[in-house]
Amino acid sequence: METANRNKSETIRKKIQQWSEENPRPMPWRSIKNPYLIWLSEIILQQTRVMQGWDYYLKFSESYPTVKDLADAHIDDVLKNWEGLGYYQRARNMHAAAQQIVSTFEGRFPDDYDSIRSLKGVGDYTASAIASFAYGLPHAVVDGNVIRILTRLFGISGIITSAPVRRSIDALADEVLDKDRPGKHNQAIMDFGAMQCTPAPRCESCPLTADCSAFKDNLVGQIPLKKKPRPKRERFFYYIVFHQEEDLYIKKRSQKDVWEGLYEFYLIEQPEVRDWHQVVEHLPIPCDLEYETAHYKQTLSHQIIHARFALAAITGDRLLKEGYSAVNKKKMRNFAFPKIVDCYLRDKGVNLN
Ligand code: ADE
Repeated sequence: METANRNKSETIRKKIQQWSEENPRPMPWRSIKNPYLIWLSEIILQQTRVMQGWDYYLKFSESYPTVKDLADAHIDDVLKNWEGLGYYQRARNMHAAAQQIVSTFEGRFPDDYDSIRSLKGVGDYTASAIASFAYGLPHAVVDGNVIRILTRLFGISGIITSAPVRRSIDALADEVLDKDRPGKHNQAIMDFGAMQCTPAPRCESCPLTADCSAFKDNLVGQIPLKKKPRPKRERFFYYIVFHQEEDLYIKKRSQKDVWEGLYEFYLIEQPEVRDWHQVVEHLPIPCDLEYETAHYKQTLSHQIIHARFALAAITGDRLLKEGYSAVNKKKMRNFAFPKIVDCYLRDKGVNLN
């Protein structure tokens, strides 16, 4: 790294630290050293905003105060505690990683970067966050916030997912890192990205404009440069809610697809919007159908799911087989559902809390 960049990095490090001291952000996982709880907070915050994640963090850490408690829990309970947060793979990975910690690391959270990085669901970012926050190890976090700050400050105008651009961002993050206080520094730079160098930036109140290449060149709106996202795949779910007296038939999703491990009703997926009469031509058992008018939509990271529901009162004595369970409406709260199914049940007045 050239001296000019090194001087600039030092200035940036000091100014961000000063900004952080003037703009404290108390959170329940800050100023703790427990690596398990830091890990939990970082996994929650990967795809969730601080305000939304806060209560989940408290609930989860109360249900599973130690890594052993999480390892011993049933995956259905873990998913139930995660319900509403989305990106359920995070919870499945955490559960598997907790078991990995028990079996490989004798139940003690690993304390070196490579071992932390070997845990299921832990990437470079999360490993650096845990290593620096819990153990004071000199690893710089590079998340979306940090990428935005560094590309703007250093005027990096290439597409940020290209490998050489990403390598230079990582090198700059290392250069800017305060190696004596890496945890404090990492929190400060993340906060600076979350509050000051935001996507729609607040340059008018920024203490770093004098050091910002993008600001000087009037390029703040164009940096960081991202690839155009691929259009989301649209899917059309038609749910048949088989029921008998107070029981509804539900089944766990087991396939490698969205919502693995969550519960749902009898599903007929269609490649496009269809009329109900086309959808229900071949139902597995006799029933009386009543179509719901509401249309539910859920946007995921790569897909948009459209769902409609039909109530199906079972008329004969044949029961729905192949993994379906008849569950009393009052017991629905014991199961974790995709948001779309949860919304439907709430609209129908089924108590889920
Ligand atoms: N986003 C990810 N990790 C965070 C943390 N520790 N504090 C605030 N925001 C975050």
